Amino acid sequence: MDSIGIGIIGCGRIADMAYEGYRAIPAVHIAAVCDSDEKTALRRCAEWGAQRHYTDYRRLLEDPAVDAVEILTPHTSHVDISLDAMAAGKHLALQKPMTIDRVSAERLVRAAASAATVCKVTENYLFHPPVRFVSRIIGEGYIGKPSSLSIKLIAGGKGGWPVPPSAWAWRLREFAEGRGMQTFDHGHHLWSTARFLLGPIEKVSAWIGTTASVIDSPAAVMWKYRGREAFGLCEYVYSQEMEIPSRYYANDEWIQVSGSAGLVTINRCTGNLLAGPSVSLYSGNEWRHFQIPSDWKLGFVGSAWNFVRAIRGEEKPRLSFPEAMEVLSIDLAIARSAETGREVRLRPDGAILSPLKAYVEKRGELREARAAKRLLAKTESLENSEKSCLLAVQLTRGLPSRMSSPALVREDMRIGLELAGAAFAGGVKRMSVFFMRGGEVRVEEDRLPADPNLVITSSASAWADVLSGKQTIESTYLHGKLKLTGAIETALSLKKLLRL
Ligand SMILES: NC(=O)c1ccc[n+]([C@@H]2O[C@H](COP(=O)([O-])OP(=O)(O)OC[C@H]3O[C@@H](n4cnc5c(N)ncnc54)[C@H](O)[C@@H]3O)[C@@H](O)[C@H]2O)c1
Repeated sequence: MDSIGIGIIGCGRIADMAYEGYRAIPAVHIAAVCDSDEKTALRRCAEWGAQRHYTDYRRLLEDPAVDAVEILTPHTSHVDISLDAMAAGKHLALQKPMTIDRVSAERLVRAAASAATVCKVTENYLFHPPVRFVSRIIGEGYIGKPSSLSIKLIAGGKGGWPVPPSAWAWRLREFAEGRGMQTFDHGHHLWSTARFLLGPIEKVSAWIGTTASVIDSPAAVMWKYRGREAFGLCEYVYSQEMEIPSRYYANDEWIQVSGSAGLVTINRCTGNLLAGPSVSLYSGNEWRHFQIPSDWKLGFVGSAWNFVRAIRGEEKPRLSFPEAMEVLSIDLAIARSAETGREVRLRPDGAILSPLKAYVEKRGELREARAAKRLLAKTESLENSEKSCLLAVQLTRGLPSRMSSPALVREDMRIGLELAGAAFAGGVKRMSVFFMRGGEVRVEEDRLPADPNLVITSSASAWADVLSGKQTIESTYLHGKLKLTGAIETALSLKKLLRL
């Protein structure tokens, strides 16, 4: 392929940014444009130096000069245009959100899995340079173990670029159907970023208000990350009389991630409400500020590069369709939570858990928390709790080094540990110990194994006593200070292996 011919379908407000992305890339050209409004199509064709214009996207898909399409039409048209583009053998980058419901998203994911071309969802925030920089800061451990991510989105009634009434019209129809332009449409960027920085989301709770009868703000959204003690908060504000300095939409966002050793803040995304450095880091008892390029347009440039590199086979497309479906599910879960006034749980593949399953899961968690509390009350005084919590965790971390003989591990074993202690967040610390056949031992924290052979539930002090040799595991068990759930043979092997 000499030069990649791009076809732009939907030449409205945000198509300006798509064009900015592609025009920065060598060996890529705009081959054709399509807009159902002919005047718009003609204007964009001239502005962007395209060879042809269309008003029916199916004609554009028949054009052999078009290798790849960027789809920038209203959300309800995304499914048909994407399926037709795949059938026509075109690579495709589809604007977020991929569609408006889970069923049609699953259809798209299935079709993309068997398509011979690259399929991605354009999510410019994942390529916003400060977001990428902060992801590296977190990954390299500057803020320690992250436990909280907060986002403030502030939208103004004035400022920014002009938005044509036609671009509001379809968004108002979406609002009437329960998909607000702040929490659903714009929310996609925020949940993608939250997921990119700290991982998959397990459950959400949301309150969504309304301003001027059409804007889904003020709003407050909370979420928990899957399998660990880390939470997210997003606060939406709409300040009708305020002007936001911005070359793009009249809004801006601040994102802060806090961890056990520091915190890091992205000081702007869409606009320029806060002057100064775009990223600030507090770590090692000092502030450091970074002037990472933060023009919002750069996210689109990065996303266009990713699409082109994916077509050339040089990197993976982002968001992939399954990833985009997970983000869409967060969007839908937030709308559902605000509507029902309840927390909404997501399955690991992103689908919303049915109310019955969510209820059963919640009851299970409550039961576990109550059991941990009872065990704690029975076995531990508050004064020595902090010490024994620390000791129990340290001794568990040291288990790999106290194996009696690696040859004794004849089959893989997955041991879960639930340690109750007042010093632990939520009163309980979960750990996993994996024994691999052949002798390798690995300890993981803040989660139980997915399919454990044995789960040991104990107070931190009782477990610390067992590991430090003050008590045997049998007497601790017989005195009711330690509970075993699972295969008793695994417990016996464990005793032998670790000389408990
Ligand atoms: N990444 C971002 O930050 C960002 C920002 C705004 C919008 N968007 C997304 O981009 C898409 C478009 O939003 P917009 O604000 O540019 O809307 P817009 O209304 O300004 O533009 C949509 C254009 O598509 C045309 N169109 C509608 N149906 C069509 C069809 N079937 N075939 C061809 N053309 C058709 C319309 O005439 C219009 O010109 C949406 O998915 C939106 O969520 C993304």
